[in-house]
Amino acid sequence: MLPHVVAIRYVTPLREGGSLPGLMEADDLGTYVVKFRGAGQGRKALIAEVVSARLARACGLAVPDLVTVEVDPALAPGEPDQEVQDLLRASPGLNLGVDYLPGALDFDTAMGGVDQALAGRVMWFDALVGNADRSWRNPNMLLWHGKLYLIDHGATLTFHHRWETAAASVARPDAEAQHLLELLVLPAGPGDPGGPRRSRRAPEIPAGQCG
Ligand SMILES: Nc1ncnc2c1ncn2[C@@H]1O[C@H](COP(=O)(O)OP(=O)(O)OP(=O)(O)O)[C@@H](O)[C@H]1O
Ligand SMILES: [Mg+2]
Repeated sequence: MLPHVVAIRYVTPLREGGSLPGLMEADDLGTYVVKFRGAGQGRKALIAEVVSARLARACGLAVPDLVTVEVDPALAPGEPDQEVQDLLRASPGLNLGVDYLPGALDFDTAMGGVDQALAGRVMWFDALVGNADRSWRNPNMLLWHGKLYLIDHGATLTFHHRWETAAASVARPDAEAQHLLELLVLPAGPGDPGGPRRSRRAPEIPAGQCG
């Protein structure tokens, strides 16, 4: 079970996010990036967020804490933005909150702070959960107090949108844009500015890899 909080104030929309997550204050005095049930991505994206964040943590990777957030649509009329109002009205009750990391920076490889071993573990994890959403355009990683945090796992485990594809997804080679951390793991080969492409079949889990 995730800890549960009640949202008391909508602070601001996070417009970098396609699902229009909102920064909200809650009754535990915490501030959360709230991902709404009524967003276009739907509930299954929130389920994927929770499952993949738990898997990441089990693999020793850092993710912000998650909570369930009770949202009262009565907060909607106080918001000037119609899109935000609509989202709050469409999301009564339980939503997903991600602990807000104040001052965190969207990760860029030029920042440093991620060694080859960590980059490899993140790529291994993303292959496991089928995450195609950590490119240079959309890193979905934050650097906070010098440490890398993984965020935004809504587009993982995509087979749960069509269960009949689940078995085939194990052997699926991924054809998505290059992973932002790829060049930290695989040095570029001669004549290949993008470096050698690795096989991105979902990996076998080595014994003891995840707790
Ligand atoms: N826990 C957090 N602490 C601080 N900033 C955050 C946090 N979570 C998200 N952000 C910021 O908000 C942005 C949007 O968040 P996120 O990527 O989770 O939303 P999304 O709607 O799923 O986005 P996308 O368009 O990638 O699907 C991030 O790029 C980051 O800058
Ligand atoms: Mg994102």
